[in-house]
Amino acid sequence: MLREGKLVAFPTETVYGLGADARSGEAVADIFTRKGRPSFNPLIVHFPTQEAAAAEVAFDARAYKLAQRFWPGPLTLVLPRKNQSTISLLVSAGLNSIAVRVPAHSMAQALLREACIPIAAPSANRSGRISPTTAAHVRSEFPDSLFILDGGACTVGLESTVLALTHAAPILLRPGSITHEELEDALQEAVLLPSDHVAIASPGMLASHYAPNLPLRLNAATVSPDEALLAFGLQPLCGAAHMLNLSERADLREAAAHLFDYLRRLDGPPYKSIAAMPIPEHGIGIAINDRLKRAAAPRE
Ligand code: TXA
Ligand code: MG
Repeated sequence: MLREGKLVAFPTETVYGLGADARSGEAVADIFTRKGRPSFNPLIVHFPTQEAAAAEVAFDARAYKLAQRFWPGPLTLVLPRKNQSTISLLVSAGLNSIAVRVPAHSMAQALLREACIPIAAPSANRSGRISPTTAAHVRSEFPDSLFILDGGACTVGLESTVLALTHAAPILLRPGSITHEELEDALQEAVLLPSDHVAIASPGMLASHYAPNLPLRLNAATVSPDEALLAFGLQPLCGAAHMLNLSERADLREAAAHLFDYLRRLDGPPYKSIAAMPIPEHGIGIAINDRLKRAAAPRE
């Protein structure tokens, strides 16, 4: 189906992707249409190996070091497009770089190897909504015909860390389970954090994103009887209409894996809003808070 230019949803260790042949402008255009995605928001291209990715983008010493250490895995590198690259220009929405990633999930690996083509894939949700971490989530986003490979629940549960290596200094464009500290440790140099300047360079960093239908209230210290509670830790707040605890033992990795599924399950009547308890701002907690902030941001 992919080779014929059709869309296929597939699991990765982070979230489910909506895949298409990255070399085909028509297939890639179909991703934007199905998602209702602003066409200026560029896509990640998936490969089975670093060698396969190196046919399309230029790896410098830093990129090579990171690929050695973290691939296959939840890290995306934004690298300069090679002149002879076969990737559709639509993928990177007019930028001279391409975001590339080698996923670790065994079903994603099998698909990439069998299909033998680079696969462009954003998260398999309609634009602006919560990313899917199960095949059932994908089905609920696209109730009409879409071929979905079911590989169970994603183990990481948050989209990949995105690092740009297109400037003098490495820039962390999107926090993820591979942390700022781990990247600096691997590179032995400073990694810049997103600033306003960088936000313009990466148009995908829209303020409102991953949004549930209900309003989301952050850092809740109290909860009212008509609210659903997204709890964290040993001592959840009392008095919510309904509660799901991201991790009773306050484990941030467990919390990340549950985040999008629990947001979906709390999202709807009879509750008026979702109250989220504070999440510690360290390690993968930084990526969880990034997603929660976007989910709570004012909508367009
Ligand atoms: O975990 C993931 O990364 C998932 C799975 C399916 O691989 N994919 C995913 O894709 O989250 P998406 O399209 O939802 O997010 C891609 C992010 C966006 O923030 C986009 O702006 C950024 O990567 N991006 C892609 N290409 C870029 C480029 N050339 N320059 C800067 N940012 C880029
Ligand atoms: Mg997405």
